[in-house]
Amino acid sequence: MNDNLHQLRCIGCGARITGAEAQPDFRCVLCGELFEVEYPGWGERQGHDRPNPGALKWLWRERRCSPEPLDRSGVWRFRELLPILSSFGNVVTLREGNTPLYALHRAAKSLGMDQLFAKHQGMNPTGSFKDTGMTSALSVAKERGFEWVACASTGNTSAAMAAYAARAGLRSLVLIPEGKTAWGKLAQAMDYGAVTCQLKTDFDGCLRLLMQIVKESPIYLLNSVNPYRLEGQKTPAFEIAEAFNWTVPDHLIVPGGNLGNSSALGKGFRELYELGLVARMPRISVIQAEGANPLVRSFNESHGASLEPVEAHTRATAIRIGNPASWRKAVRVIQDTDGWCLDVSEAEIAIAKAELGAEGLGCEPASAVTLAGLKKLRAQGMVASGETVVLVLTGHTLKDADYTINFHRGTLLEKDEIAGHEAEIARLQRNAQPVEATTAAVLAALKGRAG
Ligand code: F0G
Repeated sequence: MNDNLHQLRCIGCGARITGAEAQPDFRCVLCGELFEVEYPGWGERQGHDRPNPGALKWLWRERRCSPEPLDRSGVWRFRELLPILSSFGNVVTLREGNTPLYALHRAAKSLGMDQLFAKHQGMNPTGSFKDTGMTSALSVAKERGFEWVACASTGNTSAAMAAYAARAGLRSLVLIPEGKTAWGKLAQAMDYGAVTCQLKTDFDGCLRLLMQIVKESPIYLLNSVNPYRLEGQKTPAFEIAEAFNWTVPDHLIVPGGNLGNSSALGKGFRELYELGLVARMPRISVIQAEGANPLVRSFNESHGASLEPVEAHTRATAIRIGNPASWRKAVRVIQDTDGWCLDVSEAEIAIAKAELGAEGLGCEPASAVTLAGLKKLRAQGMVASGETVVLVLTGHTLKDADYTINFHRGTLLEKDEIAGHEAEIARLQRNAQPVEATTAAVLAALKGRAG
């Protein structure tokens, strides 16, 4: 580990330790809180370790044309801002990152906005944003000589971990809640050779158990409590700033589950700002599902001072989390950037997902909370028509095909959930229909489908 360049700082009591001193569960021994990676040289204005903004912007762009695997990774292209390894020779990469930023023309039009974009993290190698954090943390595991890595997961973390572990020649252990993950994700963990345990508990129960397991055996924990995960997951902030020519959008909207991603993106933008690479930070808002909304409740009940775990229920299984580990980090990001935290219903998620699909993008249900949340923010006058907004789409549409098919078949939502949304849903549904194998029958199927 390159402990000369980075250290870990407890977000609770401020204690500082070296990377090598971290406990297996990545909790502070003094106060029990989480750590974040800190780069001491950057704070000193004249410090010789402080990167030069102009040179970095040029270098990062040049690397996009390089044939080197490290340069072709959208995470390690920015390696000056994540010096967490002793040797970049230990990097395990699948060419993650460099994901597309798409303009959302139809959604922008219907919301009366000029500048609406989707940063599609589902276009990563295993189909979710988790790859950007897995390349960084798993590279640390490899450098430290671990043979086993593990995570508790609602599906995407396990898919990413299993793939990167397989590339590195490490063994991986996955704990997932039985019957509460999408099949596509489970299939990936199997395909990449993980030992996959389906437990009769929820995600929060899986994570609790894993915290004990890593204390008892030499297994490296790869959940987002591991601060090195967030170092990779902060890099989409760099890509977004670069795509806007080092200005930043007015507003970034992120789904909230265990709350590692919103924390990481906030850290990314903060570092760009502190290093003088951008002039301000975007407002960062977190959207949760109504049935899995502990952070929303925390803001409503205590302005983010405390969080009561909830028993989580949502069909957006990726964010079916009642006791989010990184909630304090996310509170800080939302408060520092004047963001909002709100929740959306099951019908609002399903409609937003179908709308993103109808724009030719598609995403998994958890990602669609961002558009559903933006609609609410627009309706409440909290986002102006001229503001530039980026939605972070976290997972690929093929991750949870059952959800999509059930929506279009009309079997996804209960009657009481649909109430008030009937017309919108009917307009979006495109169920596959059995048609006779004749020209006339196929042409007849087109009638009335002009919109
Ligand atoms: N979107 C998707 C597609 C996810 O898979 C997750 C989390 C989130 C959003 C929420 O991100 O937890 O950083 O707030 N999935 C984790 C997993 C929990 O195990 O795959 P978060």
